[in-house]
Amino acid sequence: MRRYHVQTFGCQMNAHDSERIKGMLEDIGLGEATSADDADVIVFNTCTIREKPDTKLASYLGAAAARKREDPSRVIAVGGCYAEAQRDRIFSLYPAVDVAFGPGSIAHLGDWLGAGGVGVARGAFGLDDRAFAAALPTHRERPFQAWVQVSMGCNSTCSYCIVPAVRGREQSRTPGEILAEVTQLAQGGVKELTLLGQNVNSWGRDLVPAIQTEFGELLRACDAVEGIERIRFTSPHPKDFRDPVIAAMAECDAVCEQIHLPLQSGSARILKAMRRTYTPERYLALVEKLRAAIPDVAFGTDIIVGFPGETEEDFAGTLAVVEQVGFDSAFTFVYSPRNGTDAATMEEQVPHEVKIERMERLVEVTQRHARERNESRVGRVEEVLVEGPSRTEETVLRGRTRRNTTVNFTGTADAGTLVPVLIESATSTTLRGTQEALVGAAN
Ligand code: 5AD
Ligand code: SF4
Repeated sequence: MRRYHVQTFGCQMNAHDSERIKGMLEDIGLGEATSADDADVIVFNTCTIREKPDTKLASYLGAAAARKREDPSRVIAVGGCYAEAQRDRIFSLYPAVDVAFGPGSIAHLGDWLGAGGVGVARGAFGLDDRAFAAALPTHRERPFQAWVQVSMGCNSTCSYCIVPAVRGREQSRTPGEILAEVTQLAQGGVKELTLLGQNVNSWGRDLVPAIQTEFGELLRACDAVEGIERIRFTSPHPKDFRDPVIAAMAECDAVCEQIHLPLQSGSARILKAMRRTYTPERYLALVEKLRAAIPDVAFGTDIIVGFPGETEEDFAGTLAVVEQVGFDSAFTFVYSPRNGTDAATMEEQVPHEVKIERMERLVEVTQRHARERNESRVGRVEEVLVEGPSRTEETVLRGRTRRNTTVNFTGTADAGTLVPVLIESATSTTLRGTQEALVGAAN
């Protein structure tokens, strides 16, 4: 039997796409290899959101090409966002690549690789034949957690972002399709769902009749599915966070008290140049509204430093919003110009040293908040979904709270169960604790 290895870069949508890629490869008769070294078919599911993943991919591809020279029967496939962005040049850039495919054309991968994954004539495929991967078989890591794609593509036009160019315009799956998948997952033992969309809370606007297809309604419908204990979603756009979604979050037991709400910048001027269509004030008002409706809610965010034209004053605006919100977690990025986006050709690109210096100041603040927010959990009992042994210590268990913080704890619970854990200490990224007696847990 020929064996495959899938190497994933990028976001949760890509990780979910990789589950479909694996399912697809198993469907055509391949087995999973233990590592890239002993794989006959190696698939890179790529990201191109910033320059860094591009350069990382180049080194991985170099190693794969070397292995292919030793054994020419090896097949190299490159999928995902980088493949789509470079579709016209991918084979000249990387002559060892056999098959290239965009994020929307996973469904065709099996045809190109052929039964047993022996490889076919070179081909590249993209947005023109885009389809939901949702109907494909899935290979999931954990039986009790699942991603569910609710839409593909994005209709926003953020001036820094390459995603609309590589994932196309937004198209929602119908509620019937999504709920059929959720029900099936729940019957198979899934307890935690993460709904995925490039702009997850604008889901449904392209469907008819729109009145029954609003994201808050979708949350309610998922919440009503027997067996689903936790629901998360990512990533919402602040501009589309409407009241029915807030009400659904507040009222649905399964919807977790956690929101990833990308801020990007705290300067009105920069937000405008980014075409985010909200102001810092509106963002802050939304945070307040969410806090009032959902007690104890945790906020995560994405922030870009060094967008073209960002002055010290603009950056101070970002720090001010960050101080005011006190995010539980934050992904911080140095602005990276992407070919084909409007921001890439804007004048006043910020010098690298300035970006790095601002980044350092920002991280200091976000880490302080993250640590303080986590420390405020010490002494409380949190409900933890057990994921397995901790990464570093075999005898310690690992799981996540409803607020999406990782907890390492002493206990005896099985993976996939919900247990109460007394929180005893905290860092900026994790909590530590001890499992309470199993009474009262929602198992
Ligand atoms: N440069 C830096 N960060 C970016 N992001 C998107 N595009 C860029 C870019 N060109 C960040 C945004 C987004 C996250 C997924 O990546 O913060 O929310
Ligand atoms: Fe990377 Fe964006 Fe593609 Fe996700 S959607 S893999 S973050 S480029």
